Amino acid sequence: MDLFEYQARDLFEKHGVPVLGGAVAETPREARAAAERLLPQGGGRVVIKAQVKTGGRGKAGGVKLASSAEEAEEVAGQILGMDIKGHTVHRVMIAPAAAIEEEYYFSVLLDRANRTYLAMASREGGMEIEQLAVEKPQALARIAVDALEGIDEAKAREITEQGGFPAEVADQVQAAVQKLWEVFVGEDATLVEVNPLVTTADGRVVALDGKVTLDGNAAYRHPEHAALEDTAATDPLEAKAKAKGLNYVKLDGEVGIIGNGAGLVMSTLDVVAYAGEAHGGVRPANFLDIGGGASAEVMANGLEIILGDPSVRSVFVNVFGGITACDAVANGIVQAFGLLRERGDEISHPLVVRLDGNNAQEGRRILTEADLPLLEQVDTMDGAAERAAELAAASAAPPVAAK
Ligand SMILES: Nc1ncnc2c1ncn2[C@@H]1O[C@H](COP(=O)(O)OP(=O)(O)OP(=O)(O)O)[C@@H](O)[C@H]1O
Ligand SMILES: [Mg+2]
Repeated sequence: MDLFEYQARDLFEKHGVPVLGGAVAETPREARAAAERLLPQGGGRVVIKAQVKTGGRGKAGGVKLASSAEEAEEVAGQILGMDIKGHTVHRVMIAPAAAIEEEYYFSVLLDRANRTYLAMASREGGMEIEQLAVEKPQALARIAVDALEGIDEAKAREITEQGGFPAEVADQVQAAVQKLWEVFVGEDATLVEVNPLVTTADGRVVALDGKVTLDGNAAYRHPEHAALEDTAATDPLEAKAKAKGLNYVKLDGEVGIIGNGAGLVMSTLDVVAYAGEAHGGVRPANFLDIGGGASAEVMANGLEIILGDPSVRSVFVNVFGGITACDAVANGIVQAFGLLRERGDEISHPLVVRLDGNNAQEGRRILTEADLPLLEQVDTMDGAAERAAELAAASAAPPVAAK
């Protein structure tokens, strides 16, 4: 999960990284009130910064100075609602203006290719780092960071030396990068980036911008991170699925997919997309792995989410029985139909079920005998994908090809 700058700032502050004051505003009025408080800290000036999860805000006109509360209100009015690279600005951050002497760059990230962590540092920060890496690669130091040793004093010294930081600020930068490593480890981040890290006229080193990516796999260790999620930007179906504990990702096709096991679901997406080519280009509408177990409730929840997607025209339930045998899954499907009926969510689209693996015969028999409306069985994965694609195309209105 990527964080907004103001959230990164808060985490920095929590771990003792030097930052400026900051306040978030969603309306020009709120920006004005925040500016009134922060103007004295900024020597009579504040910056208004667009909060969007994309880079290059400055260039796009999303970072502006103001010298009074009235001006802050006016500038916030211009920035709020702005579109920056396809992201609408819903919030701005107000910060005291810093008297910047120099701008540096620092980041630490997970280096998957080398199975380690990587710190990057440069005396020449501020500008887009991708540009610096291409135009002046020698100015961007790359220092491997051992997972067990982390950024200790010696590593911090190596970073300031390799990054070419001036001697006067080396101590402060070293302290800052050690704190930033604490953010990285303590919050389970995969990226912590500061661009720019600055020295101010009074000789202080301060993080003026922050970008943090949190590792979703560690979310269970950080219940407090749930509050950082941008729920307004999350797809409502994905949010609903998450609340029900389902492993669901919305895609933009028409064939709803349910399978057991991430690998099987991934390959189901492929075969459906392939089969769909012959049917006007219908595609998978989602990824949904119901995992092992496949209880009636999980199946009902899964179907409810998928049928709640207005793009869905047909559903493909692809199950390979393993520890959970096909008869258990079949019973789960039968009961799920009942549960959905009780909830008032009748099955509204054709459902193609393929059962294979452990106890497939018995599972198929259960479904045949249950004679559920709109449900048909196909014994092979390719055949079922073909049928689901065909059904989706047949009931597609507006025409799929027009998409
Ligand atoms: N508090 C501040 N006081 C004075 N100048 C600032 C302040 N914050 C940012 N700036 C100036 O604005 C520039 C751009 O700000 P910032 O780095 O936060 O955004 P950005 O680089 O455009 O966005 P991104 O990092 O997302 O690409 C900085 O390099 C700095 O020169
Ligand atoms: Mg920046």
